[in-house]
Amino acid sequence: MKKRSILLITNIILFMCIASAQNSIILRTSEAKDTISKNIYGHFAEHLGRCVYDGLYVGDNKKIPNKNGIRTDIVEALKKLKVGVLRWPGGCFADGYHWMDGIGPKAQRKHTENVAWGNVRENNAFGTHEFLELCDMIKAEPYLALNMGSGTVQESSDWVKYVNHANSSSYLTDMRAKNGRSKPWNVKYWGVGNESWDCGGNMTASQYVSEYRKYATHITNYGNSENLFRIAVGPGSEDYNWTETVMRDIPSKLIEGLSVHHYSVINWSAKGSATLFPEQEYFRTMEQAWRMERFITKNSEIMDKYDPKKKVALIVDEWGGWYEVEPGTNKNFLYQQNTMRDAMIAGLSLNIFHNHADRVRMANLAQIVNVLQAVILTKEEKLILTPTYHVMEMYNVHQDAVMIPVTVTSEDYVMGDKKLQAVSASASKDKNGITHVSLVNIHSTKEQTITINLGNSGAKSVTGRILSSSNIQDHNTFDKPNTVVPASFNKATLNGNELKISLPPFSVVVLELK
Ligand code: AHR
Repeated sequence: MKKRSILLITNIILFMCIASAQNSIILRTSEAKDTISKNIYGHFAEHLGRCVYDGLYVGDNKKIPNKNGIRTDIVEALKKLKVGVLRWPGGCFADGYHWMDGIGPKAQRKHTENVAWGNVRENNAFGTHEFLELCDMIKAEPYLALNMGSGTVQESSDWVKYVNHANSSSYLTDMRAKNGRSKPWNVKYWGVGNESWDCGGNMTASQYVSEYRKYATHITNYGNSENLFRIAVGPGSEDYNWTETVMRDIPSKLIEGLSVHHYSVINWSAKGSATLFPEQEYFRTMEQAWRMERFITKNSEIMDKYDPKKKVALIVDEWGGWYEVEPGTNKNFLYQQNTMRDAMIAGLSLNIFHNHADRVRMANLAQIVNVLQAVILTKEEKLILTPTYHVMEMYNVHQDAVMIPVTVTSEDYVMGDKKLQAVSASASKDKNGITHVSLVNIHSTKEQTITINLGNSGAKSVTGRILSSSNIQDHNTFDKPNTVVPASFNKATLNGNELKISLPPFSVVVLELK
């Protein structure tokens, strides 16, 4: 009897130990092979609200330091972020944009109407040359979106030649030289349309494919065009028939990338406030953020069927949180604040992209400044860095490193009858042999203790940085720009190849193992 009770007590203790150590991560170091593309750290700049004008570009405003109209404080902040690629000019705007309106002497540029975003006047002061100069300043690769919606094949093909042709015998390169640029820019990434199932033309998948084939052919019909990377429109929801049609019917010689769009929005007709939200809305946003995993997995499965060698990249060219605009601002301008909730979306999404590095080779956060989940917000000469900025800066150590697959066992974050995985992780080894592990705990109240098996990483020391705050609604403002900033993290202990850490509720941590 006595022996039996001892056994029972031992079993209970063992069970309690296992139950409390529910979080574990294994780094499968021997399986590491795919590189995390720097372009996963891409951004999106559209002629929308205050993203370009009054954001990136202030023209001849003497009060705000700028170079040729481009804000120099933004350039400095973006350089630190190591932006991989920058997509422009839209979005829905791209399918109404005529590139010739944005070149030549500024005083002579036509004024047009931005029909996609509030019918405001577009003076075309920021055009091809200005955008490519910005990319040069922040050292990002440009990604141009062609107008398939209201443009022509000829117009797109001319744009590619104007930008990329070295020595054409046509008027296009003469014009480029006359506008101050004799050398071609050699832009690699070209998007063929945008959301063609909606604002880009309301096409069916097969209509889009027929159009695409013409564009993809004609934009490459000149010398030096072998390096062009043509990106086809993919779905923006679980419309897998679109992916299937595009992958099946576009010949492989005409496509290098397929783009998908995914926003973490709780309800398109009641998106909720960006800063004043109850925990229930936070949970629903996290549910949408985790949907990215399924969305990428399902699209990749279809792509694998038609492209088993993974030649075509999956590009998440719009992603992020989307809420109601800030009170008192133009509803067409999509200006929203950015809280710790957005930091969770960013950390979680980047972990998902890393873990799919074999197929996901570019992702562009929507959008870079003053629109949706922006990394930077501006107000006249003031600028603030958002929690999302800090996550992207902390994470950029993974750029061009080799992804280490991870097995994550996590506690659940439960609300009513729904549950979400609380802990998300990704890892990589860089060219100097340093391993980085990124961790997110989305749980709103519970700290997570995690045991990490480091495989054969051979680490002898650990350091880290954390982004956390007291309230999930916390954010930076123009009066208090440093409410949410990264700090050093010291709750990690290394013992042989095992690491134990405690992640506070709604926090993001990046560990460095040497
Ligand atoms: O990012 C804002 C808009 O969202 C883009 O213009 C469009 O492509 C998407 O629907």
